[in-house]
Amino acid sequence: MSKEFSDRERKSGRATFYESDAVRKLLGDAFHPGGLALTRHLGEIIGLSQGNHVLDVACGRGSSAVHLAERFGCHVTGLEYNARNIVSAHALAEERGVSILTTFRQGDAEGLPFDDETFDAAISECSFCAFPDKARAAAEIARVLRPGGRLGLTDMTTSGPLPEDIQTLLSWVACIAGAGAAESYVETLKGAGFIDFTVEDQRSALLDLVTDIRRKLLGAEIAAGLGKLDLGDADLEEGKRLARQGAELIEKGAVGYTLIVARKR
Ligand SMILES: C[S@@+](CC[C@H](N)C(=O)[O-])C[C@H]1O[C@@H](n2cnc3c(N)ncnc32)[C@H](O)[C@@H]1O
Repeated sequence: MSKEFSDRERKSGRATFYESDAVRKLLGDAFHPGGLALTRHLGEIIGLSQGNHVLDVACGRGSSAVHLAERFGCHVTGLEYNARNIVSAHALAEERGVSILTTFRQGDAEGLPFDDETFDAAISECSFCAFPDKARAAAEIARVLRPGGRLGLTDMTTSGPLPEDIQTLLSWVACIAGAGAAESYVETLKGAGFIDFTVEDQRSALLDLVTDIRRKLLGAEIAAGLGKLDLGDADLEEGKRLARQGAELIEKGAVGYTLIVARKR
């Protein structure tokens, strides 16, 4: 299998995973730890304000883009690989009355369809880890930011080699497959011309998300036991085991969630 083909498969494979109804029910519409509260924090820390043009790289269904437009009055362009997510993002912006402040476009983070120095700021949440060529994505983000433009990332991180059973976890948090140490993301971003880094450990947001998923799985089990929920062929035991394993890895510090802020030189 060629590298190009496998990268494309990986990107679209992830897109399908996040698109599934089961994942939506468990994670809600903000597909990242910390939800919109962490998005708001990211917006504050990169100093968003009215009149700014912000790029949301891998914007999913547009919940963060819509939230930033509502909260800061900035114009947000969401870029997303999965065309169906773009349709959902348009619908959400329409429903929330911020269509005038938002634009959504299908595309690849590794080849952004925008001119040089278009944006004042960029964010990317729970997605950088999923890009097969992170250096290229970082260079692309730097290219489309104006000089001095701010970047805010939040992402899955791993610390040191992971235990072997992490492989089973891949089916649960698909993007962990490409995650690395926060320091490696910083190095990649430095290589693309970013400076003035702020790094925050947001592991507790990831632990809260996993705890919430475990609570929902327990609720589903009780409802199924009372005959009030048909689980079909969903393997609840496997889901519970993976969630427990995930919580253990986070508590041990093997897997985390990190906020990184920097600016283009
Ligand atoms: C965990 S979701 C996060 C979505 C959104 N940032 C959020 O926090 O709600 C990861 C997203 O990255 C998108 N994605 C993966 N690879 C991509 C790429 N190379 N370019 C653009 N989007 C990509 C997926 O389709 C998916 O919507």
